[in-house]
Amino acid sequence: MTTQTLVFTEHGGPETQALIDRPRPVPGRGEVAIEVKAAGVNPADWKIRAGLMGARGQLPAAMGLEASGIITSVGEGVEAFSVGDAVLGLAAKGHGTFARHTVLDATQTVLKPEELSFADAAALPVAGATAYDVTHQIELEPGQTMLILGAGGGIGLMAAQIGKVHEFATIGVANAGKKELVESTGATFVEAGDVAADRVRTIVPEGVDLIIDLVGGQALRDIAGIAKNPSVIVSAADPVTAADLGGAAVQRTREGIEKITGVAQYGLVDAQVRERFDLEHAMDAIALVEGGHAAGKVIIEP
Ligand SMILES: NC(=O)c1ccc[n+]([C@@H]2O[C@H](COP(=O)([O-])OP(=O)(O)OC[C@H]3O[C@@H](n4cnc5c(N)ncnc54)[C@H](OP(=O)(O)O)[C@@H]3O)[C@@H](O)[C@H]2O)c1
Repeated sequence: MTTQTLVFTEHGGPETQALIDRPRPVPGRGEVAIEVKAAGVNPADWKIRAGLMGARGQLPAAMGLEASGIITSVGEGVEAFSVGDAVLGLAAKGHGTFARHTVLDATQTVLKPEELSFADAAALPVAGATAYDVTHQIELEPGQTMLILGAGGGIGLMAAQIGKVHEFATIGVANAGKKELVESTGATFVEAGDVAADRVRTIVPEGVDLIIDLVGGQALRDIAGIAKNPSVIVSAADPVTAADLGGAAVQRTREGIEKITGVAQYGLVDAQVRERFDLEHAMDAIALVEGGHAAGKVIIEP
């Protein structure tokens, strides 16, 4: 049996991507095979393809890191799941989720709560778990100020909703077209740009207690001065610039996926899926995220 899978044939641009038929993957020890119902698209998908995250692994390489679906077979040593379970999780090493069938790492897979659609669930293993980790690395008190740079994207919108749950005063910096979307999370919207820090200063003259960076580069340098202390900069996008400024990279945890799934189950965080593509149009989905201006989450539904 074969399954359609999106791969890249060599490290490079979008022209290296191809939708091919591959043998349906079999789960190894500690893995589960699923029929994919939905897969989330992340900036890491094109960064891995481009070789920006190291050039390891076999080519052609299957693309896609996160998915939801139904378990079709269970690998050796897996006791937590059974065939027929609805789950969400991270692709096992060497597998990709932009496919009709794939294999997940059972240790980074959780049961999908009935309350969550497959589409929403597919956005949680990477973007949702990162939003959880980045908002918990430095614990704020209710009323303290959290600024999110890149608030209108996949991680940003979920991070802003987590801020609301914790009663932080959240400021979301994003481009003008995302004002309503950012405000729908309860955050105060500030338009992005080289004077964004001045705009924030008019709202919080004393500075902010936490900067969550989802953009990096010059945009991070421009806003960094608004932090009360550079050590409160936590970056998912650009650890080098964050460290240069005195901040830190987000430390990913193994619990993030379970925690964000629980929060989403109770309706406290919505994954904000805004764009859906079928597998035949998976390359369009990746191009949308690669453009750097996606709103909320982009998913592929095989
Ligand atoms: N370290 C980790 O474990 C980890 C995990 C997941 C993701 N990441 C990284 O985290 C970053 C964000 O991921 P994501 O999934 O949220 O990406 P995304 O969905 O593509 O969102 C990025 C957002 O940033 C906004 N943006 C771009 N330039 C901006 C600027 N100058 N000022 C304000 N907003 C700007 C974009 O839209 P507009 O420009 O239209 O506002 C977009 O909404 C990526 O770099 C990703 O690779 C790291």
